[in-house]
Amino acid sequence: MTATATALDLGDIQGDILRAYGNAYGRTSYVFVTIRDPTGGRDWLRAIADRVMNAAPWPGAEKPSCAWNVAFSAPGLAALGVPERVLRTFSDEFLEGMELRAKVLGDTGSSSPEQWDGGLRHPHVLVTLNGLGERELEAALTELRTEVVRHGLEIAHEEHAHTLDGAREHFGFADGFAQPAIEGASDDRAEGGGVPLRAGRWRALAPGEFILGYPDEDTRVDPQGRLPSAPASPLGRNGTYMVWRKLRQDVALFRRTVAAAAARYAGGDERLLRAKVVGRWEDGAPLVSHPIDPGTFDATAPGANAFLYGDDEDGRRCPLGAHVRRSNPRDALGFEGRLSFRHRIIRRGMPYGEPLAEGVLEDDGADRGLVFVCFNASISRQFEGIQVQWLNDGNVFGLGHDTDWLLGGQNGGSMVVPGATGDDPPFYLAPQGPFVTTRGGDYLFVPGLTALGAIADGVTG
Ligand code: HEM
Repeated sequence: MTATATALDLGDIQGDILRAYGNAYGRTSYVFVTIRDPTGGRDWLRAIADRVMNAAPWPGAEKPSCAWNVAFSAPGLAALGVPERVLRTFSDEFLEGMELRAKVLGDTGSSSPEQWDGGLRHPHVLVTLNGLGERELEAALTELRTEVVRHGLEIAHEEHAHTLDGAREHFGFADGFAQPAIEGASDDRAEGGGVPLRAGRWRALAPGEFILGYPDEDTRVDPQGRLPSAPASPLGRNGTYMVWRKLRQDVALFRRTVAAAAARYAGGDERLLRAKVVGRWEDGAPLVSHPIDPGTFDATAPGANAFLYGDDEDGRRCPLGAHVRRSNPRDALGFEGRLSFRHRIIRRGMPYGEPLAEGVLEDDGADRGLVFVCFNASISRQFEGIQVQWLNDGNVFGLGHDTDWLLGGQNGGSMVVPGATGDDPPFYLAPQGPFVTTRGGDYLFVPGLTALGAIADGVTG
């Protein structure tokens, strides 16, 4: 931690925000619970509250067999009796919920809410269980289901996710290691995860970008040092907002489309074309720093993500429209990265469904994809900024209306892959059907543990 950093109250902040459980826990279940009456709901919360994990380091190497965390939608808080005047202190987009934001988010056509899994519409409470293994997770699930029934509540939806070999997502790329560095929590990851400074130096981001009740990047430059807006006390301290989205991936369509395009690209170099679409080789090596496949790469090693796009302005190494360049442009928008660093998110997604066997090009009908989870203090500035302005629109990158080719979308855009040198012609990837379809989700609030106790006791203001 730097001398000026604010100490984070790790014992009151929920664990899954600051700790990447996916590295230690291979299985995650997301259980959505519907509250039928405030009294039963609050009794249930009190019964499970002491299982909810905080972010303090675990003593020794001993890991709990299952880590519990809990989050609430706006209707969920209302169903638990949080008064309207307290609810009005939450952000507008949280109160609206993901379904009402569907058009803004590009969730139209086959991604529109009418097509979502039934139990994922208007959820109340999400309990996330991270189990060391299947047995540990099953034991926690049984306990949770018993408590739910005992208190007269209902389970609306369960989604079971698990890591795939090599920490890959279903299209075959290593995923989840590029994360923001946060002052007081992950200062050692500043290089590549924080804000780029001059002369190759980096600094971690202010904690209020991710945890409510702490200085954010505005506070840093505000002469009066004001804290960012947060829900009324005690809810506004040590909590954050969570985005939960079930994103179905059409792996066969992705494979067929890339293979067909690669037949016309760089002498049929499909691996290179796949890397151009994401901006990283399959094992995570960044294209901008490794235009030639290094063969082996440890994306979790210190400094592995310390790259910038400034001297690849025309995208010859990493295309301007590559997924990682769009979702975190670093310094690609100029001004030494100052247009990017307020749009960062902590990603905690996990794949669901079984992988499609290698080499298979026809859809087997199985449901598989990514449970996309991210944490941020401002859903509109951070998650929605990335989704709406960077992934669903290419204007800011000089790419017109082109959308992120990896995700597709309803009006899937085209993608230009510049040639490696000025003499090589650019290669055009034609618009494609959606590789990724939204199956449901919502915006949730993850309270600090004191605030969780207040919700359970009905004393939120
Ligand atoms: C099924 C859908 C998606 C797939 C398959 C996918 C895949 C990937 C992969 C392979 C990486 C590189 C690994 C890494 O940097 O950790 C990545 C990075 C990233 N993705 Fe996605 N992604 C998906 C959806 C999204 C969405 C919806 C968002 C945000 C709205 C997003 C935001 C990011 C960000 C911020 C990074 C890190 C970029 C960096 O810091 O350099 N992704 N994604």
